Amino acid sequence: MDSDPQIQVVDFGSQYTQLIVRRLRECGYFAKLYNPEELKTCSPKGVILSGGPRSVSDPEAPDVDFDYLKSLGVPVLGVCYGMQLLNVKHGGTVEPGTTREYGPASLHPEKGSKLFDGLSESSQIWMSHSDTCTQLPDGSNVIGRNEDNVPVAIQFSDNFFGIQFHPEVTHSHEGKLVLENFLSLVDDRPGFKIEAFRDHLIEQVREEVGDREVVCGVSGGVDSTVLAVLLNEAGTKLRAIYVDNGLMRKDETEEVVSQFKELGVNIEVIDASKKFLDAISGVDEPEEKRRRIGDLFVEVFFNAADNVELLAQGTLYPDVIESATSGSMASTIKTHHNRVQKILDLQAEGKVIEPLAELFKDEVRDLGESFGIPRDILYRHPFPGPGLGVRIPGEVTAEKLTIVREGDAIFIRHLKESGWYDKVWQAYCGLLPIKTVGVKGDERSYEWAVSLRAVISEDAMTADWVELPPELLRNISNEILNNVSGINRVFYDISTKPPASIELE
Ligand code: XMP
Repeated sequence: MDSDPQIQVVDFGSQYTQLIVRRLRECGYFAKLYNPEELKTCSPKGVILSGGPRSVSDPEAPDVDFDYLKSLGVPVLGVCYGMQLLNVKHGGTVEPGTTREYGPASLHPEKGSKLFDGLSESSQIWMSHSDTCTQLPDGSNVIGRNEDNVPVAIQFSDNFFGIQFHPEVTHSHEGKLVLENFLSLVDDRPGFKIEAFRDHLIEQVREEVGDREVVCGVSGGVDSTVLAVLLNEAGTKLRAIYVDNGLMRKDETEEVVSQFKELGVNIEVIDASKKFLDAISGVDEPEEKRRRIGDLFVEVFFNAADNVELLAQGTLYPDVIESATSGSMASTIKTHHNRVQKILDLQAEGKVIEPLAELFKDEVRDLGESFGIPRDILYRHPFPGPGLGVRIPGEVTAEKLTIVREGDAIFIRHLKESGWYDKVWQAYCGLLPIKTVGVKGDERSYEWAVSLRAVISEDAMTADWVELPPELLRNISNEILNNVSGINRVFYDISTKPPASIELE
């Protein structure tokens, strides 16, 4: 989908580049990330050149066509590497520093600088660079210095600015204001309204799909639900397929079915639970279990969706950036789970569409809300593809599945009733595959244990456990111990990620 952004962000590989896009969209401007070689593929109203790990003096360092940039006649902001590149392009020099400057510093803006309008006299900024601009170009103005009087912000000309710090991270306390000031120089109004974008998406989907049949997998999760509703609203010939892998939570399949019924989307339910449970029977090695579940999913799904004319996937913008190894310069963080061979083949045949690929998660939620999808669905905790399979370490049995389902239902109900559900990123009840001794009535028991986990996180890459109130934990534990048979102990998981992961496997 190629809609021109208002702001083009050129990616030189900084770990923070995606955040620049995020912040600009928070300010209401439609921003998108481009590789340096894609510079000329859109007509933006403003350009930001990101930071990056390379040194501008490195012969392999990424470059941009400066004459072209100037010919655009729009404001350009260089951040760190971007600033150094602009400094060299304007005739200044950049030299390697002896040490890497990393962490907080102070910005003292010059009075009258448009970029720093409204900033404090001393404002905390976040630095991450080793090269420095040693000689500034003729005609440039220093518009900000650090606490040692070293220039950290330069206005090269009417339209060209450079800053040696990262305005996109929250450690730069007034960074957002710097971006807002930059945007105020842009000859365009904030235009990123989800309602307008929704109409644009519907149009795009209609064009892309035409009268072909489009298949999509639904799980009941946020992305696939919004995707299915979007395809439905666009009036496509839709087949939404839900595979019950037998590893879903208590009553989940019934809930998903009724959820889609209410949304007016027809879904096909494939009950493959026995197949999945057979496939992982006796398997206790975690990766092997995951592989079997993943492979079988692909088999079952594509059996049902035979002769796919078009497959729609709920890939989001961060996934696109993360998996674009040849594209984005940021290092690949994880292999995207949608990239299985069968799907890559379809993609090569031009049979895959990813209508949500320009949106961040919260924008998908806004889009869903504009379609009238209930909050309950839009703000559900993430649930892993292999389902309860990764919450039951070791062999998965029917007995263990029942324990986890019952325990989880009690835990989640308490979190919802107490208002904690919306405050945590993810919470679940898993099973610890050990038996311990307890007493029940006058009898000795020898039974399994469950483990409760509630974490906060921003991106699931790191996570911290949540200090739930002891009274709440006590009530949950009591109810689980009194109502779930087959266990005699409840643990609360107080492990951070890393070194633990969020799921048990
Ligand atoms: P971990 O356990 O790796 O989980 O700390 C990080 C986040 O990813 C989710 N997760 C998955 N999601 N397919 C998914 O769609 C998977 O195979 C998968 N494994 C983990 C997990 O629930 C958490 O939000």
